[in-house]
Amino acid sequence: MSITLRKLTPVFGAEITNVDLTRPLDDATFAEIENAFETYSLLVFPNQNLSDESQIAFSSRFGPLETTQGHIANHFQVKQISEISNLDPNGKLMAADDPRLIFRIGQRNWHSDSSFKKVPAKASLLHARVLPPNSDECGQTQFTSLRAAYDALPEDRKRALEDKAAIHHYAYSRRNTGIKLTNEEEDKRFPPVPQAIIRANPKNGRKALYVGSHASHIREMPEAEGRALLLELLEHATQETFTHMHTWHVGDLVMYDNRALLHRARPYAITEHARVLHRTTVAGEGPTVQ
Ligand SMILES: [Fe+2]
Repeated sequence: MSITLRKLTPVFGAEITNVDLTRPLDDATFAEIENAFETYSLLVFPNQNLSDESQIAFSSRFGPLETTQGHIANHFQVKQISEISNLDPNGKLMAADDPRLIFRIGQRNWHSDSSFKKVPAKASLLHARVLPPNSDECGQTQFTSLRAAYDALPEDRKRALEDKAAIHHYAYSRRNTGIKLTNEEEDKRFPPVPQAIIRANPKNGRKALYVGSHASHIREMPEAEGRALLLELLEHATQETFTHMHTWHVGDLVMYDNRALLHRARPYAITEHARVLHRTTVAGEGPTVQ
């Protein structure tokens, strides 16, 4: 039996139904899903009653998984499932001034997961476990298509950016939150790394404008000039027409292509309602630049 696919926007995103991800998929069904992922960048699978084990098993079909960074918001744990939660280890809502919540607020900036790593993530999969009662204020996730952004660039700009690399730095994107959230060990682990600004999908050749809030400046360009250009490109890439807002329901599994999309968390009453998502991350296949 084949999956059912419904497009979410004219340019990207698809809802996939008629499939049960809690059970091992046959190769033909998996190939259909993988093909949809490469084509649509964002896949939404509603009503998937996944355990951590079944989420890891499905995610692993796409390639080796990243393990989580030990950081302030996940109690410095290293594992294949990353918990995105506003609850402390005792299950209590965190207070507004808790650094772990302020860390989450950094995720309201447009970004691509792990772009600050030498080999950035290929895909992330988020499974909604617990959500606030009102679905309009569930902490929506907004996506924007970097392929649509690339396609809309003038030809001379596409050519000018083709061989350029942006320097992505974890500490840079976190600097704007106002408090020091990275420690010395993290600063050492995540030094600034170059990433190609134009990335082509290895399977279908579709190009994407790979920018985001971890990108600080442009290699071999005066720093202020590069930073201004990156801000301009980010503004271009995140215009309304390229975006899609996902409103969460418990059981949603949302898979997104970090090579072709940016995303950001939308605000909600973070100190009032529990919200727990479990994330797996498929590692990238190699560095984006030589
Ligand atoms: Fe993210």
